[in-house]
Amino acid sequence: MYRVLVTDKVHPEGLELLKQRGLEVVVDLDAYKPEVLKERIKGFDVLIVRSRTKVRREVIEAADRLKVIARAGSGLDNIDLEAAKERGIRVVNAPDALKNAVAELVIGMMIVLARNAHYSYRSLLEGKWEKVMGMEIAGKTLGVVGFGRIGREVAKKAKALGMNVIAYDVFDLSREAEEMGVKFTRSLEDVLRSADVLSLHVPLTEETRNMIDRDAFNKMKDGVIIINAARGEVMDYGALYEALESGKVRAAGLDVYPEEPPESEELKRLIAHPRVFATAHIGAQTEEAQRRTSLEVAEKVLEALGL
Ligand code: 3PG
Repeated sequence: MYRVLVTDKVHPEGLELLKQRGLEVVVDLDAYKPEVLKERIKGFDVLIVRSRTKVRREVIEAADRLKVIARAGSGLDNIDLEAAKERGIRVVNAPDALKNAVAELVIGMMIVLARNAHYSYRSLLEGKWEKVMGMEIAGKTLGVVGFGRIGREVAKKAKALGMNVIAYDVFDLSREAEEMGVKFTRSLEDVLRSADVLSLHVPLTEETRNMIDRDAFNKMKDGVIIINAARGEVMDYGALYEALESGKVRAAGLDVYPEEPPESEELKRLIAHPRVFATAHIGAQTEEAQRRTSLEVAEKVLEALGL
């Protein structure tokens, strides 16, 4: 009998499917810590995780019969793909299942920030009545950095709201962009220079780490709105704080952080900034997306095991 270890909160439907197909499923939410996981992974054929569990080389090497690592979600940056490949372990994920949930959060943040609604709420809580002025997003230019599934979904929704969209990717996705009425560029600088609102949708890799650094902020329009629902490490948050203080960045929407939960004073200070609207990595956190994700990875696990 194949044994499945689940170390993060995964929607029960996919796990139920695995049980119905004869797999033993053990949910152990304490096993997400690397030193614990190194011990508890033994005897399992499948490991199902979200972003909280870091599946590093030592964990993979400690496993004695692991065949599949399933990421119930999209980003694979928490999994050592090289170590998994060396051991012949299949890695599966469900990138389609959550794209709508992330895109809806991004669009919501965009409107909140453009209208200064986050600021208005704070100000009301402080007993003030300030008629803050905002900006309409219709007719403005959205710069999408990373034109994969989520980036494209954000672009589609932004187009429907009357925005112009310019998208950047390292791959040539000009045909896909053209079909959507999106301007495509392979120059990050083009997007940075023309966007009124900038949204990041790149995976975290060695190439994208810190791609939005001080130099990138300098190239942006004054008063740009910036949203990061990708990974905290793709943006230099120290540089973002400075750009918020100088007014270069009008407002920032953050869903992801280089450390989750954020503990450092720098991150806490950034989150508390009056022109920041911050959430706790909830991009994929909808009932619909979690259900779809869980079913999609369960099916991929079964397929990878040849069942
Ligand atoms: C992802 O990469 O799937 C999203 O960032 C969501 O991550 P989570 O499953 O840890 O919420």
